[in-house]
Order: sequence, then structure tokens, then C-alpha cells
Amino acid sequence: MEVFTRIADLKATINQHKVNGKTIGFVPTMGALHEGHLSLIRTAKEHCDIAVVSIFVNPIQFNNPEDLRTYPRTLEADCEKLETVGCDMVFAPSAEEMYPEPATETYNFGELEAVMEGPQRPGHFAGVATVVHRLFNIVEPKKAFFGEKDFQQLAIIQSLVKQLSLPVEIVPCPIVRADDGLALSSRNMRLSAEARKIAPQIYATLKNSVERSHTANVDEVKKYVIDTLVSLKVFEPEYFEIVNDTTLQPIANWSEARGVVGCIAVWLDGVRLIDVIRFR
Ligand code: PAF
Repeated sequence: MEVFTRIADLKATINQHKVNGKTIGFVPTMGALHEGHLSLIRTAKEHCDIAVVSIFVNPIQFNNPEDLRTYPRTLEADCEKLETVGCDMVFAPSAEEMYPEPATETYNFGELEAVMEGPQRPGHFAGVATVVHRLFNIVEPKKAFFGEKDFQQLAIIQSLVKQLSLPVEIVPCPIVRADDGLALSSRNMRLSAEARKIAPQIYATLKNSVERSHTANVDEVKKYVIDTLVSLKVFEPEYFEIVNDTTLQPIANWSEARGVVGCIAVWLDGVRLIDVIRFR
């Protein structure tokens, strides 16, 4: 496995592989890798000859400076994990390498960014789109792999690719959970032992909400999720929305959309966790 910090060096090696007829699969990450990331890389290796992983804590997608400051940075351990799943190339650039000048790109994702994470994290999706667009231009992958836990991010990236006709196929990959149901996230490592013990209640509540959706209306199910988590005293839900899985717009009735998911962001122990559940 080769580790690159310079764009020019990475591009030269990727081009060599392309000349040799190899296909490139790409997994962008911010590091602090866990089993969820590793499953993306295994999938990339199933689809493509060469797996490229970027590790870059992208400063311009953080709207909260404290979140950026405390975001886990574990490059050495990450590289050890990547070796075990057959990753071929790691790209771990500095902020100066990615942004020699302040980024000026602008994007418009319309209604996709007007809900959920959009209003809660101003500038977040512009930062994600900027870095992913730049990384796609650098790596020029045939396919790129994204987890469905960041459901809205996945929709934004699909829109980016469609709007700009980028020559890359986006492959959505299922959420990976711990045995107790907690969706794997780099942020989980910031939870205290006590908070980690109660964190699986997020997914447990979401699963119960699917049961309830057979007899309750959308508003009742939303209220059930928020009330249940609040009653546990340690959770502070930021939002729980039940949305059309394509437009991401909230629905009022179950029959309004063919595909329906519930998306939640909740604070626990000073850590912001997100999760997604499918209703239909
Ligand atoms: O999902 C993430 O880890 C990040 O948002 C991404 C896609 C790597 C862009 O920085």
C-alpha cells in the first residue's frame, strides 16, 4: 500500500495503473476509520482493480470549530487497518495541498440542502461538495463508494455528479452497525463509556418506530421518536424527519412517497450522532 501526500505524485501513479488497464475505485474519508469504512473498501475492491482511499479532515465542511478541533486524527492506525482490507493507495494531503487558496466553488442543491443537516450546519454541504468534487478531479475514479448513514450527503453527491455530468458512478453502501445496533461512526469514539452504553437506544427507538408506522400516522411516529429519546434524559434530538427517499422532503402521509426513510440527528454526551431507518 502506498501513501501519498502530494496530488501530483498520486495522479502519476493512478495514471500508470490506468495505462495498464486497471479500474479505480475511490473511498473518500476523514479518517478515524472503523468497520463501516473498511466495508466500503472491501466493496470497492469487489467492483474495481485498485482501491484508493483519501484521508482528509476537510476544514471547510465544519461549521463548528470545536468539532473540527476535536475530530479524531489517527493516520497511523488508519493505515494499519487499510492494509488489512487490501487498500492499494492512501491519499492523505495537507490542507494547503487541497486548498492552496481559499475555496471559491459554489453549488446549488436546491431543496436537497434546505432540510435536516442543511439548516443545522450552514455551509456544510458546500464544503463537502467542494472537497469531493476536487478529489474526484484528482483521482478520476470509475466508481466512488459512500455509506448510507450520511443519507443526505449521498443525495447531495449524486446530485453533484448529475448536475456536472462527472464521469463517476456513485455506489451507495449499507450502514454498518455494532452488535448492539449503534451505527458505526468516527464520532462514537468520543462517547464516554456510560454514553456508549445508552447510545444503541437511538437505533432501538428507530426500529420501534417502524413497527408503530403500521398503525400510527407520520406525525405520531415523529412524536414517538422524539418523546422516547427525550424521556431517557441524556439525548437531545436536533431533528427527526420522515422524508421521501429521493427528494428528501418531509412527507405528511405514508402514501406520499414510494420510498420513505427517517433521518435523525441527536446529541449525546456532547457528541452529535446521526442515523437513518427505512420505513418503505
Ligand atoms: O463522509 C465523510 O467522511 C466526508 O463528508 C467526506 C465525504 C469524506 C468529505 O469530506
